[in-house]
Amino acid sequence: TVLVVDFGAQYAQLIARRVREARVYSEIVPSTMPVSEMLAKDPKAIILSGGPSSVYAEGAPSIDRALFEAGVPVLGICYGFQLMALTLGGTVDNTGSREYGRTELAVSRTSSTLFEGTPAGQQVWMSHGDACSAAPEGFTVTASTDMVPVAAFEDDERKLYGVQHHPEVMHSTFGQQELEHFLYRGAGLTPSWTTASIVDEQVEAIREQVGGKRAICGLSGGVDSAVAAALVQKAIGSQLTCVYVDHGLMRKGETEQVEKDFVAATGVRLKVVDASERFLSALSGVSDPEQKRKIIGREFIRVFEQAQAEIVAEAPSDEPVAFLVQGTLYPDVVESGGGTGTANIKSHHNVGGLPEDIEFELVEPLRKLFKDEVRMVGQEVGLPEEIVQRQPFPGPGLGIRIVGEVTRERLDLLREADAIAREELTAAGLDRDIWQCPVVLLADVRSVGVQGDARTYGHPVVLRPVSSEDAMTADWSRLPYDVLARISTRITNEVAEINRVTLDVTSKPPGTIEWE
Ligand code: XMP
Repeated sequence: TVLVVDFGAQYAQLIARRVREARVYSEIVPSTMPVSEMLAKDPKAIILSGGPSSVYAEGAPSIDRALFEAGVPVLGICYGFQLMALTLGGTVDNTGSREYGRTELAVSRTSSTLFEGTPAGQQVWMSHGDACSAAPEGFTVTASTDMVPVAAFEDDERKLYGVQHHPEVMHSTFGQQELEHFLYRGAGLTPSWTTASIVDEQVEAIREQVGGKRAICGLSGGVDSAVAAALVQKAIGSQLTCVYVDHGLMRKGETEQVEKDFVAATGVRLKVVDASERFLSALSGVSDPEQKRKIIGREFIRVFEQAQAEIVAEAPSDEPVAFLVQGTLYPDVVESGGGTGTANIKSHHNVGGLPEDIEFELVEPLRKLFKDEVRMVGQEVGLPEEIVQRQPFPGPGLGIRIVGEVTRERLDLLREADAIAREELTAAGLDRDIWQCPVVLLADVRSVGVQGDARTYGHPVVLRPVSSEDAMTADWSRLPYDVLARISTRITNEVAEINRVTLDVTSKPPGTIEWE
């Protein structure tokens, strides 16, 4: 394991991902964790992340000197670099000026461990106020910029390395290479963390955890629950039953995809509950977004519980249904403060709001993985491309993409429009460039149009294409005009009642991705 010590910027997750891209397993730990606890994890290398503060700011996080004396290779990045310099006796100046963005880095010793094989001048991404002016004793200065005399240093004897820039962001042209040099050459690690090894490891762990007992899994149609279920199915086969609640708010073809493609690929035992009538009548007359979400969540729980009771009744067995499979991802784990092992279900969210009060033990085979890794695992266990590459879709489904009351007619309109947008985006090869593209029906808005010489008075839809790394922040995607034009033409021609297509050009924040 490589530990990434998080000093509170948004960069720690990115660093962890880059390390994993180098096929070395990494985990994030908070900088407040005592060094003894970090070392107890037996890390093969440690990376100190950047952070938002100045090393001289009051209450700025620090690190125990013991970290550098444990014989574990350490790479300090940005804030981590300055902390390393300061802790080991170098000089960091509170310059008051900032270096931010693309910067030209002069690599003064190309035979260094980190920079070997990279050019003497290279573009890197900087973001800092303080600057190191003298390296600690024993270190060689390996790079500088116009503003910073000591922009990188290393002590190959003690296996300590530091860089002022951010090698983890793609604007640092040779960043990934530097990280790999640290991991492979500095720390002597080998790239052995592969998708196949993740699958083997998880299958083993699931078997151990579940034993002979039974498990259920709520399938939402999304990538995470599908991959989690497929992994558990691979591990314990017939001990697993999946439940798919069709609330009638799914997109076109979604239910069929789960019923046919998912079952075909995994051989899982699936219970499909058609509860669309129930959801629609519960939603009747409701247009407040929060109320809709609550109703959908509540009905979901009821239907799920009923299904669970039926599973127990249909197949009586001495082995209890003791486990609930959830597709919790690593970012959720990190953001909720880490934690290990299993917990009884709390207010966890993943499959669109699962029961809070049933006592299950959780099986969470994806809790160490990032989204792109989940997709690779999905591919590895044989799930079809259409499932693995799906874009995120909210648990409450199209119910929160109709601004206004949710009715069957409106759902049908939106389903058609959404299917057209998806088809065209796929045809244009844009699926991997955008995070997701909600289509929103402004059901209570009407506008005048003209079609075939006749006046129309229909509804607008909004296209909401966004790019994002994790949905916490997002930017609107600059889709090619011709793709937008095709989507617009097709929707207004093929979906009666929709006579206008608009584009949402709001980032998040201030807008959220979904409209409700
Ligand atoms: P917002 O609208 O908050 O959405 O910017 C962020 C991401 O979360 C998805 N989303 C949900 N997913 N249950 C889910 O499983 C929900 O209730 C829910 N609401 C929003 C949304 O599609 C986006 O990817």
